[in-house]
Amino acid sequence: MADKEIATLRDALRGTKFVYIAASFAALGGLLFGYDTGVISGALIFIKREFGLTTVAEEIVVSGVLLGATLGAIVGGKAADLFGRRRVLLVTAAIFGIGALASAVAPSPPVLIVSRVVLGLAIGLASTNVPVYLSEVAPPHARGWIVSLFQLAVTVGIVVAYLTDYAFAGVEGWRWMLGFAVAPALVFGTGMFFLPETPRWLIRGGHHDVAHRVLVRIRELGDVNAEIEEIKASLAQQTEGGHWTDLLRRQVRPALVVGLGLAVFQQVTGINTVIYYAPKILQTAGFNSASGAILATVGVGVVNVGMTIVAMFLVDRAGRRPLLLVGIAGMIITLGALGLSFRYPSGQLAWIAVICLMGYVASFAISLGPIFWLLIAEIYPLRIRGVAEGTAATFNWASNLIVSLTFLTLVEKLGASSTFFLYGLASVASWLFAYYFVPETKGRTLEQIEAFWRARHRARQRASWR
Ligand code: BGC
Repeated sequence: MADKEIATLRDALRGTKFVYIAASFAALGGLLFGYDTGVISGALIFIKREFGLTTVAEEIVVSGVLLGATLGAIVGGKAADLFGRRRVLLVTAAIFGIGALASAVAPSPPVLIVSRVVLGLAIGLASTNVPVYLSEVAPPHARGWIVSLFQLAVTVGIVVAYLTDYAFAGVEGWRWMLGFAVAPALVFGTGMFFLPETPRWLIRGGHHDVAHRVLVRIRELGDVNAEIEEIKASLAQQTEGGHWTDLLRRQVRPALVVGLGLAVFQQVTGINTVIYYAPKILQTAGFNSASGAILATVGVGVVNVGMTIVAMFLVDRAGRRPLLLVGIAGMIITLGALGLSFRYPSGQLAWIAVICLMGYVASFAISLGPIFWLLIAEIYPLRIRGVAEGTAATFNWASNLIVSLTFLTLVEKLGASSTFFLYGLASVASWLFAYYFVPETKGRTLEQIEAFWRARHRARQRASWR
């Protein structure tokens, strides 16, 4: 190999390595998301005991985070379009740290609730900005799995939270459980301090020289100019000004529908009834010992991580659509089986429930879990990417809040069996939605995806003129 070629190859590898390091640090935002939403299930018993919480107060402590996340997602996308992905993520890391510390030392329930809402704000900000940051630095052929690092981090965060709860349960150490999240927040903040802004946001703001320098650092040298030209050309075709009202424009609407639909379906198919309440479901199914139920829950969390890794291997090969359709079909089958096993209970109900729950989580983990966050980070035009992604994330958190608040009541009123059938029906609707509305984005550059929507819009306009 000639010296020049070796040098190019070395640059390429260095560039790629940099993207992976950047992606790993940014993905820590996902770890904090998973940890801070998952940790409360184990901490709650002790918080309740110490403060003598009523059931309503208990529900507010749990859902405070979801409320905060909804608010964070509302402002997070617009803020990232205005100030840049990196700056918003730096502030996010600081809020994560403050929220974790404040909730760990909270002297009273009101302080605890406010701290949980603050933590939620950080989760909402992270969920709007980490996927966009990752999709805007990733090369197209690896974007699927690089953005899915976010979901992987979420699932790892959930398992770490379950294990931390388990470790501190003996000493009733709920303050340690909540405070533990300060450490990853520090690492996340330090990482973001050293990472660059995304080249696409820089070009959008006219900072072409800086964008060029960043791209040189994160790509093979040869491609940089071509990529910059592609981004500029795509921007030139976008007439949106970056306002909320742009979301309602005709040419943006189909992408908006895909994002909002997936946002709602990701939640109304019931994933967080399992993530937040698995020990409770297992006890209803006949798991007598609490620790056995908690251990089985850790097992469910591990399956979630493992299958997310499988999805990451497949997403750039098989594509987004096949994973979505196969995974949601699995969710329909396992929810149906869960509903049936609660309706006609046998002596083996506890074990059947564990197997169904694991199958259900595995199916979610190869489909709606990673692919929702991936698609909403890649299907919107650059000028409105932040606000559009933020709107989808807002719908996701609001739906999460509604499902989490209604689950226990539904089980009480309708019974476990009908409740799972209901989530099964929602899964059928989401399969149909994915089949008819979700486009394949595998292997395309973000600019090619923008061109795809534009071409579709023009074709529809032509058709309606005829
Ligand atoms: C969802 C969360 C869920 C997690 C479980 C994420 O994609 O947005 O609501 O708790 O997956 O792995």
